[in-house]
Amino acid sequence: MNWKGMSVLVTGGAGFIGSHLVDALINRGAHVKVVDNLIRGKLSNIAYCRDKIEFVEEDLTKRSVAYEATRNIDVCFHLAATVGGVQFMASHPAEIFKSVCIDHNVIDACWKTGVERLLYTSSACVYPVSLQKHVSQRPLKEEDAYSVEPDTDYGWVKMLGEIQCRAYHRAYRMKIAMVRPFNPYGERESFDPDDSHVIPALIRKAVNRENPFVVWGDGTQTRSFEYVGDVVEGMILAVEKTVNADPINLGSSGISIRELAELILKLTGHEIPIQWDTSKPVGVKSRKADVSKAKKLLGWDAKTPLEKGLKKIIKWYKETCQKS
Ligand SMILES: NC(=O)c1ccc[n+]([C@@H]2O[C@H](COP(=O)([O-])OP(=O)(O)OC[C@H]3O[C@@H](n4cnc5c(N)ncnc54)[C@H](O)[C@@H]3O)[C@@H](O)[C@H]2O)c1
Repeated sequence: MNWKGMSVLVTGGAGFIGSHLVDALINRGAHVKVVDNLIRGKLSNIAYCRDKIEFVEEDLTKRSVAYEATRNIDVCFHLAATVGGVQFMASHPAEIFKSVCIDHNVIDACWKTGVERLLYTSSACVYPVSLQKHVSQRPLKEEDAYSVEPDTDYGWVKMLGEIQCRAYHRAYRMKIAMVRPFNPYGERESFDPDDSHVIPALIRKAVNRENPFVVWGDGTQTRSFEYVGDVVEGMILAVEKTVNADPINLGSSGISIRELAELILKLTGHEIPIQWDTSKPVGVKSRKADVSKAKKLLGWDAKTPLEKGLKKIIKWYKETCQKS
């Protein structure tokens, strides 16, 4: 697909993944429009390219905003959603459902305004808890999600979004790609102690020399981390190569939280014993992605080794957040 001159909308483009996607699309020559209400996104994430994009600060729970945003758009990457770490999910059960409204508005608006292609950003949280209880579990395949027992209400919301996309594809032959990022990490991710994911949370504690160094859980739980640059490449490839609302995992084989914490301590030079806190929420026991579909359909794999990706985010945190 030739992105040069194409009109592309990125909902949630001032957020973590969205802002990296904006970079990648600008580099490909697309005209990019971002709609974000800045509830979690930051203008600083897109400050360097502010003069190259159209930015609209608006709330996509309003129907009219979604319709206005999608007018004269060729491709829509839909990322706006109510998102947060495991603590946020546990303490904001009702908030999460705003995404149902956002999803409906954006998907329906894309259909009504004739957007050529839509990418729906689903999540690994759609997978059943029962398939994530043991570290020896087999990697998750896309079809495993449809035995329907999503992890968290957020997983239900994403499942609903997927089902709506499938329905719009069936009813109107809309060209829709769907990706399920597992645990993306990288620069511009939230380091806010109230809502950060595990990698920023541990980096913040390690760089700030917290002692004791407390990590939630017992360290045996596994997650499938992938660098944000790899994830956005997968999203773009999905739009280029798939149209039939078929979900594709963007993940990796997974490592334990103990291994992750030890690696972060080593990379930050804060090598002290870890204190495990099993009273805190940790989510499912184990999460690994089967990425054979992404390899086959997109030629995609998470290329960036974890250590290399962690070094980038540590450097960014020290240069950006620590000083502000
Ligand atoms: N980061 C992850 O671990 C992960 C994993 C799987 C899927 N995802 C999905 O990827 C997408 C991007 O996630 P992220 O990690 O970049 O999160 P993020 O919070 O950084 O980005 C989401 C953006 O959406 C914006 N937004 C929220 N509600 C809005 C509204 N009503 N109107 C307009 N904008 C609104 C926020 O301000 C934010 O900039 C989300 O759909 C998320 O569910 C993320």
